[in-house]
Amino acid sequence: MKKKPLIAGNWKMYKTASEAVALVQTIKAATHTISDVTIVVCPPFTALGKVSELLADCRIELGAQNMYSAPEGAFTGEISPTMLKDVGCRYVILGHSERRQYFREDDILIHEKVKTALKYSLVPIVCVGETLAERESRTHFDVVKTQFDESLGRLEKDDIAKVVIAYEPVWAIGTGKTATPDQAEQMHSYIRRLISERYGQEIGTKIPLLYGGSVKPDNTRSLMEKPNIDGALVGGASLKAESFAQIIQEAQAAREAGVKS
Ligand code: 13P
Repeated sequence: MKKKPLIAGNWKMYKTASEAVALVQTIKAATHTISDVTIVVCPPFTALGKVSELLADCRIELGAQNMYSAPEGAFTGEISPTMLKDVGCRYVILGHSERRQYFREDDILIHEKVKTALKYSLVPIVCVGETLAERESRTHFDVVKTQFDESLGRLEKDDIAKVVIAYEPVWAIGTGKTATPDQAEQMHSYIRRLISERYGQEIGTKIPLLYGGSVKPDNTRSLMEKPNIDGALVGGASLKAESFAQIIQEAQAAREAGVKS
């Protein structure tokens, strides 16, 4: 039985608070009839408060794009899980490749962040994925296995069961080059196998696996039809209400068509 799809918009470092308000209002209007898809928006920190107020009367969930691994303390410039909870977040993206690449985040830090997020009842959306060079040298499965082992593989069973994993091949992010549905499915089924081997089949089957990397309205359906793709983490196309809503509608249509039954 396929899961209810989860479509999350990662707004990255786009949108001031007032621009975010305008965007979320149009997303709300464009998606209010959708009930079969879990929708998450992840605006920048400075817009979370205002967006949260607007989401109070609808099903759209709020997520953050990062957080620090300590609950509070002298960590200038960082944001804690309690601050995110306080402002209404349910999700937090962790270990995005842009965090790994530009801010030197490694799997050890990401593991700490995941543990803290879970402790404070946030749902971590943990990103894994290989670079182009790693795919070309055919080490992509090993790379993703190491990322999984180090950032997630030491969690207790009860904890891993609450995590969402996003496979985002770095070469497909913001490039317009999507992994083909077969390439994505191949990695997703591999990740599911890693989870099952470590934690058992039940948990392996249960964890939602999102695909991210140039997801657009016209490629959503073919990705979502794959048995191990449970949703999408959308960057650029989540910054326009129209394309984000279309992606959500495609996900719902795929489910309704029975592909996701
Ligand atoms: P794009 O959809 O812009 O390729 O970004 C993907 C991404 O990084 C989502 O986290």
